[in-house]
Amino acid sequence: MASTLVPVFKAKITTDMKTRAAITAVNGYVPEFRLSNQVLETMVETSDEWITERTGIKERRILKGKDQGLSVMAAEAVNGLLRKRGIGAEEIDLMIVATVTPDRVFPATANIICDAIGAKNAWGFDLMAACSGFLYALTTGSQFIESGSHKKVVIVGGDKMSSIIDYEDRTTCIIFGDGCGAVLLEPTTEDVGIMDSILRSDGSGCQHLHQKAGGSMRPASERTVERKEHYVYQEGKAVFKFAVTNMADVSAEIMEKNGLSADDVAWLVPHQANKRIIDATANRMGLDDGKVMVNIEKYGNTTSGTIPLCLWEWESRLKKGDNVILSAFGGGFTWGAIWLKWAYGS
Ligand code: UT7
Repeated sequence: MASTLVPVFKAKITTDMKTRAAITAVNGYVPEFRLSNQVLETMVETSDEWITERTGIKERRILKGKDQGLSVMAAEAVNGLLRKRGIGAEEIDLMIVATVTPDRVFPATANIICDAIGAKNAWGFDLMAACSGFLYALTTGSQFIESGSHKKVVIVGGDKMSSIIDYEDRTTCIIFGDGCGAVLLEPTTEDVGIMDSILRSDGSGCQHLHQKAGGSMRPASERTVERKEHYVYQEGKAVFKFAVTNMADVSAEIMEKNGLSADDVAWLVPHQANKRIIDATANRMGLDDGKVMVNIEKYGNTTSGTIPLCLWEWESRLKKGDNVILSAFGGGFTWGAIWLKWAYGS
């Protein structure tokens, strides 16, 4: 778990320099219940050996209980975030929630979370970009800070994937888990913060990874439930092929675009979909394993949650000025990379 002995960000603002959005606090929440590979062996035809070798996953967390949605995990994550930064919920101006598993189709889960934590002065919205959701939301939120219109923006990335997984389908149930992370964005004129981002999407990839029913095209009916159309449909091999190429390419591209060498990069924070995709990305960037945040073995693929959960877990090891590359690929298809300079810690 992330250390509580984390140096606090001290904002320094002058008027003559570019304002950037800096992450000034990070927090995470994962449910207590652990679903291990050994238990999955009793549910579907699989083995700990196969799952470990093909994905790197050993266990994942599952949110149990009636009427427990994403907002329950997010409220825990955001309340902890505010405590760490020492501010009240009423100081939040905007909350953006990246997720594919909102509490309900509408209203936005951002509104539910704001109400639950008492963020009375905030407006907010949900943003859907599957596994790249946190990158999309972080980039979007940073624009509100850079423009000067907002001072405190909370970015939540989280999913209750267990709500859309078929636990009789061995090709998907071994991968996904539940979890949620959150970061606070604030303005700074120091040479830290979100420096650059490259975001991409290609809707033709929809055929390989989607949820068939529950939207306006095919609303829920007895037939959609019978046909298991409310679960994740994934053609794993096809998605793997696109993921491994695009995540590595976009990560190399953001380094080249900004003149960053492998030596300049302190950390890669990759989306945790498959250890083999993470390794290929790090390899393409020329990074040693020691610079790559990997916790897939504990949490599996939490979709929008993977990247903030890594930042939370590694927070005490991040130093002010560290060049950090965030990188993801997911359903949509969506993919992208962000270069940021960490804003606190020593
Ligand atoms: O985060 C969002 C984006 N998603 C991703 O990035 C996921 C990308 N895809 C993957 O990570 C991998 O494709 C999977 C982990 C989903 C699957 O791994 P794979 O190495 O691509 O396996 P495969 O689908 O090619 O299947 C290989 C074999 C098949 O058996 P045959 O046809 O060779 O006899 C599968 O039926 O493994 C079998 N298999 C399993 N065996 C044991 C598939 N799932 C399992 C399983 N346990 N859970």
